[in-house]
Amino acid sequence: MDFNIETRRALVTGSTAGIGYATARTLLKEGATVILTSRTEERANDARDRLLKETDAAPEKVEIAFGDLATSKGAEAVVSQLRANGLPDILINNVGFFEVKPIDELEDEDWTDMFEINVMSGVRLTKALFPHMAEQGWGRVVFVASEQSLKPNPEMMHYAMTKTAQVSVARSFAELGKDHGVTVNSVLVAPTWSEGVEVFLERVAADAGKTVPEMREAYFTEGDGTSSIIARFADVKEIAAQIAFLSSDQASAITGAAQRVDGGIVRSLF
Ligand SMILES: NC(=O)c1ccc[n+]([C@@H]2O[C@H](COP(=O)([O-])OP(=O)(O)OC[C@H]3O[C@@H](n4cnc5c(N)ncnc54)[C@H](OP(=O)(O)O)[C@@H]3O)[C@@H](O)[C@H]2O)c1
Repeated sequence: MDFNIETRRALVTGSTAGIGYATARTLLKEGATVILTSRTEERANDARDRLLKETDAAPEKVEIAFGDLATSKGAEAVVSQLRANGLPDILINNVGFFEVKPIDELEDEDWTDMFEINVMSGVRLTKALFPHMAEQGWGRVVFVASEQSLKPNPEMMHYAMTKTAQVSVARSFAELGKDHGVTVNSVLVAPTWSEGVEVFLERVAADAGKTVPEMREAYFTEGDGTSSIIARFADVKEIAAQIAFLSSDQASAITGAAQRVDGGIVRSLF
């Protein structure tokens, strides 16, 4: 299938690791120019070097924009760096943070900080880049949400709340894209083996007196993952494939949708 995105520019937030990095790599392989975001020069340069090595792409096909996307200043900084080389046609709102914290330990700032990074990063960038996409009559926006968007989670209420909010925001932006050729969708991702998840499981395993491989297996045999049909963590490449498809010319009839890439972990028909 020809994604027809060779002339497109794609901004992927949180792309030095995990799902964001894998998405940048897939889009690059499909011919798009990718713009990575990071908070630090070292991590950004390292990701750029790895991408170029892994794909044999021309160096000018990978750009970098710096900024802490948990803040409006950081989002403005990223957008102003983009203006120099051209605004993107594809926006992947991937950056996000997750942690387990019971309600008794959640302070007001935990809720607002989580909201800033997981929801407002996508709101600010979509709002800033949408007019350019609408004006040119072509644009793709994907919000990387979670299976947690669909269900309550008393152990990480603040995280689950942000993932539900993303789906609502994505759908509203999708309706603004009517008659402008701009599609906006969410991808509902289930547990996926990423750098962030590894660090997260190391902490949980230490608290439980178990090893990371033991925790990794236990999640699917006795934890929340028992309903998973694939009974394993997804690979970042599997998530990236769906995000890249939604970013393509071929996905022009898919908008306002929340698509599950969750190995069947959510036991529902739709
Ligand atoms: N992995 C899963 O199991 C899973 C499941 C469901 C949903 N998701 C969602 O998928 C997305 C990606 O998850 P992941 O597991 O791939 O993440 P990850 O491995 O933790 O990767 C984190 C990336 O986010 C960047 N980042 C973090 N805070 C940032 C900030 N304030 N400003 C700019 N960049 C920031 C990091 O960049 P620098 O450190 O270079 O700045 C890094 O590139 C998230 O939205 C997450 O909620 C993941």
